[in-house]
Amino acid sequence: MCGIVGYTGPRESLDILIGGLERLEYRGYDSAGVAIVGEDGRLRVRKDQGKLQALKDLVAKDPVNGNFGIAHTRWATHGAPNQVNAHPHTDQTEHIAIVHNGIIENCDALREALRAKGHTFDTETDTEVLSHLIGEYWDGTLEKAVAAALRLVEGAFGVAVISDLDPGKIVGARKGSPLVVGVGDGEYFVASDVAAILQHTNQVIYLADDEMVVITRRGFRTQTIHEIPVSKEIEEITWELSQVEKGGYDHFMLKEIFEQPRCIQNAIRGRLDDDGWKAHIGGLNLTDEELLRHERVVFLACGTSWHAAMIGEYMIEEYCRIPVEVEYASEFRYRNPVIDSKTLVIVISQSGETADTLAAMREAQRRGATALGICNVVGSTIAREADGGMYIHAGPEIGVASTKAFTSQVATLAVFTLHLARLHGLSDEPARSLIHGLRRIPEQMEKILASEPKVADIARHYYHHDNCLYLGRGYNFPVALEGALKLKEISYVHAEGYPAAEMKHGPIALIDENMPVVFICTKDSAYDKIKSNMQEVRARQGRIIAVATEGDTQIQSLADEVLYVPPTVDALVPLLSVLPLQMLSYHVAVLRGCNVDQPRNLAKSVTVE
Ligand code: G6P
Repeated sequence: MCGIVGYTGPRESLDILIGGLERLEYRGYDSAGVAIVGEDGRLRVRKDQGKLQALKDLVAKDPVNGNFGIAHTRWATHGAPNQVNAHPHTDQTEHIAIVHNGIIENCDALREALRAKGHTFDTETDTEVLSHLIGEYWDGTLEKAVAAALRLVEGAFGVAVISDLDPGKIVGARKGSPLVVGVGDGEYFVASDVAAILQHTNQVIYLADDEMVVITRRGFRTQTIHEIPVSKEIEEITWELSQVEKGGYDHFMLKEIFEQPRCIQNAIRGRLDDDGWKAHIGGLNLTDEELLRHERVVFLACGTSWHAAMIGEYMIEEYCRIPVEVEYASEFRYRNPVIDSKTLVIVISQSGETADTLAAMREAQRRGATALGICNVVGSTIAREADGGMYIHAGPEIGVASTKAFTSQVATLAVFTLHLARLHGLSDEPARSLIHGLRRIPEQMEKILASEPKVADIARHYYHHDNCLYLGRGYNFPVALEGALKLKEISYVHAEGYPAAEMKHGPIALIDENMPVVFICTKDSAYDKIKSNMQEVRARQGRIIAVATEGDTQIQSLADEVLYVPPTVDALVPLLSVLPLQMLSYHVAVLRGCNVDQPRNLAKSVTVE
């Protein structure tokens, strides 16, 4: 979603700000802008709709120089994605500029109150209302005006504000929308995502909700929006710059698909015990007794993380024999869910910032549940507010379509399942196979990734189709959902995932020679059943692409194309069977000329409801 970068220090800020925005492009945006105070002491704003190139062309024609400024990539919520609505926005005096992520829920009431005082507005945005509100409170100190305005705001915000009347200073604040402060040597940054500033510093401070930071090139100060000072620890980011670069791959998505063997190693490293056939997990903050006191598990997640949660459900029910439910976070928070202190809530989120997931977790905690977070981004809001949890250690995921985070989530869930299952009395043998299976996954993934040329070839045969059905059973049903999601996200092909046996209750009506059907039919307990579903598709001239287990020769007579994955225990099959589907959607998208890393309308981290 929207991205924020701010810089104050001795250097020329424009290149730093544009460079930061480039690192945030992956989050999804539709316009971009900068506000810089020049050496002449005047605030200048440049902004345009479209990709960053439009902004770069603009500043090339009409330069802005100066060593403090703020910048933004916008993903439209209030008002069309055009030049006028792009950020930064200024106040009525045009001396204050603001960039803002999030949504101000009471902006209509605030706008009316400001209109009554004579303010006029040029845009439809909630952000312009906030800039005017800050202007209304201006009395010579920027942080005082920002704090006074934010105290009236309902909703979510991550903001960075500058003024040419209070030079050299950037005020940042957040509530529900992330903001980090970068601490450099004689220079300081604010950003909505560490990727934007990693090139300059790995020393950061995470602001909590309702906290503000005031930075100048001489230092920083943190306080609440109620102007109470708070002291914050400087933390070190362990991500490296190379992780947010393409490293020779054409796209981040492809790079991340190929990183998966290493990611799985990172997700399981130090967590498996070959002596006792159990798992060691630091960070759950729950004793074995406390874990066992929970009688059911509820997963909360959105998007790809929701698919990982479904696999978690199947694993925990199979190995721990306790009931599990998987909820869309957005639905959960507006129902009246049955949650109590015996419910263990597990929240899965790559970014740790998804607004619906965060709100659902808070609702579950309010109702007395213990919430564990399974997150990728260290220090993210969900990771910090959860009662405990596990990081998946996938490293930064830049491609909007999630790949390595999905498999790392599944591997982490397998480790957690093993831990819980042993407490529930799982015997040695299945525990041993799970551990052995997990250890072999990285090398098995390498083998699947080596089949990329074959997947690319299949993509060439099918990329012109506008519809596709994905079918799987058991552990491969969530994989079918994930395969379909990947295809629609990045190639805009209409794709649906279904449990294979449900096909005859609807989707079978769609099957003809123009409907490719991807069957995920690895050799597991549902294998014989899924073969009859394949026959049903064949009888109706459907074209079949099968993902099957190595050595399965029967499948060739049922499918037009077969992609093989090595055998493993059923619960771990998704870690392998999803890889060909990721590669297939990648190649289809490339062949269809789509922007793989930044698909239209999508955002990497959805920080609005
Ligand atoms: C967005 C992303 C998806 C992601 C989902 C949940 O829709 O485009 O890739 O799966 O949000 O994000 P989270 O960060 O909570 O896992």
